[in-house]
Amino acid sequence: MNRIFSFILLGLTISAFGQQTIKPLVEAKNGMVVSTHPAASQIGLDVLKKGGNAIDAAVAVNFALAVCHPAAGNIGGGGFLVYRSAKGKAYTLDYREMAPLAGSRDMYLDSTGKVIPGKSFVGIHSVGVPGAVAGMQAMHKRFGKLSWAELVQPSIDLARNGVVLTEKEARGLNRNRTDFMRYNPGRAYMVKADSTHWVPGELFIQTDLAKTLERILAKKARGFYQGETADLLVNEMQRQGGIITHRDLKSYRAIWRKPLVSQFNQYSIIGMPPPSSGGLAIGQLFTMIKSYPLARLGAQSDSTIQIMIEAERRVYADRAKWLGDPDFVKVPVKPLLDEAYLTQRMSSMQFVRATKSSDVAAGEFPAYESPETTHYSIVDQDGNAVSITTTLNNSYGSKVFVGGAGFLLNDEMDDFSAKAGVPNLYGLVGTKANEIQPRKRMLSSMTPTIVTEGNRLKLVVGTPGGSTIITSVFQVMLNSLVFGMNMQAAVEYPRFHHQWLPDLTRYEAKRFDEAQIGRLKSKMYELTPSGNIGLVEGILVLPDGKYQGGADSRGDDTALGY
Ligand code: DON
Repeated sequence: MNRIFSFILLGLTISAFGQQTIKPLVEAKNGMVVSTHPAASQIGLDVLKKGGNAIDAAVAVNFALAVCHPAAGNIGGGGFLVYRSAKGKAYTLDYREMAPLAGSRDMYLDSTGKVIPGKSFVGIHSVGVPGAVAGMQAMHKRFGKLSWAELVQPSIDLARNGVVLTEKEARGLNRNRTDFMRYNPGRAYMVKADSTHWVPGELFIQTDLAKTLERILAKKARGFYQGETADLLVNEMQRQGGIITHRDLKSYRAIWRKPLVSQFNQYSIIGMPPPSSGGLAIGQLFTMIKSYPLARLGAQSDSTIQIMIEAERRVYADRAKWLGDPDFVKVPVKPLLDEAYLTQRMSSMQFVRATKSSDVAAGEFPAYESPETTHYSIVDQDGNAVSITTTLNNSYGSKVFVGGAGFLLNDEMDDFSAKAGVPNLYGLVGTKANEIQPRKRMLSSMTPTIVTEGNRLKLVVGTPGGSTIITSVFQVMLNSLVFGMNMQAAVEYPRFHHQWLPDLTRYEAKRFDEAQIGRLKSKMYELTPSGNIGLVEGILVLPDGKYQGGADSRGDDTALGY
């Protein structure tokens, strides 16, 4: 393996891990943007070069992704920012969607108490109150340097002049054509007028979206939550029987929250607190594995994989029971991160045989009662670092467009637990802590993360992938921090995932040695081949201060630096 990595260090594009081509390693001195689309990375880089800081670039990248990567980039969704200033202070911003005021615990159940299939994850009923534009304004107001107009204008131009479709984007649009028509009766968004299929290389023009972005440029968040855009959104709700009102939109607020910081060896891990489960889960995972000699056992040796699976199993059991919106439920963050508790949780792990998920329940704390997303990482020339994961939830969200406004609405309501114990789109189960209540934020797995070593910035990382987000971030962090891989190699490395229930490990087919899969099976692990897991965007800071980008070859991901 070492030889492979030294090839990558030379910056060669090589083929490794079976089918995959590894993108070249990108290094730069001044600044770096890694996002899932070349046009968005370019817009972010332009902002940095113009003297903008990492937050300016983040705002510009967000609007650009809403244009060039409509499957997940958005203004109709929400997300989380983890930010570390060059001075070393950490901040997190929660601009997650909220349940509408008319939402209720049983809104996705039929009269017999059964979950109505699909209602929470496609169509008008699946939409949560969007948070993205409020989030952009909040982060820009607090930390931005360039004018708001300078950050929005490039995306207006992109929408109006058109973006060149990549093969992946064209495929995504074509694949969802029937759904776009079905969930937007009488309209034809993102469906070509002559009914032919989108072809890679052709221009994708979005005039209505350009107009919406102009209103956002002129009035910032008020250009979205009030006035014409809000009217169009509420009209769409009424046209299709949805429940979001003007009151929901007007009262939406992004919230600055205290970062969740955990320790692993010499590293501090700055993560997103609830309503994301990401920061807490990463903190638990690293504490659980820290007494095992992973560096000696080796990346993805059988024992390393077993340790990681067993930690993941236990962490997701806690997630299902205890995590939800901290403004509504008391999340036992401290006890869940307690080292003695976590060590004791791992004490039932045995190398001879897999633990059964049915033998693992969530921890008990008597004091308490109880896939499409996108990530981007940015570092500027002063060392300010941004880690943002943002989502519409499923690919193209609810598939519902706001008529006349040209943007897609999320289907984030599915991240609530529609009914205790019934799995959602990602197979995740939840309980009371994550049941629906008006104005509550649904639990998330998004895990934007920043790592420091002493006072120095070390790593900026995150990914989409629903429930697999946490385990993908965990693996890439291990690849970099423990196994010493360069950023590109750490991102490319094969991935697997366990989430307590169902009791099985998904692994990227063809990237693992079948003999190893056989050995793990003989220890009673159930393993299921899967497609790609995650699209990780990472930036590693080298000892000489240079930035090293890692852009996942599983997608159109692009690292650009200067
Ligand atoms: O917030 C969450 O955990 C999910 N809505 C994320 C969805 C996702 O990552 C889909 N991407 N592939």
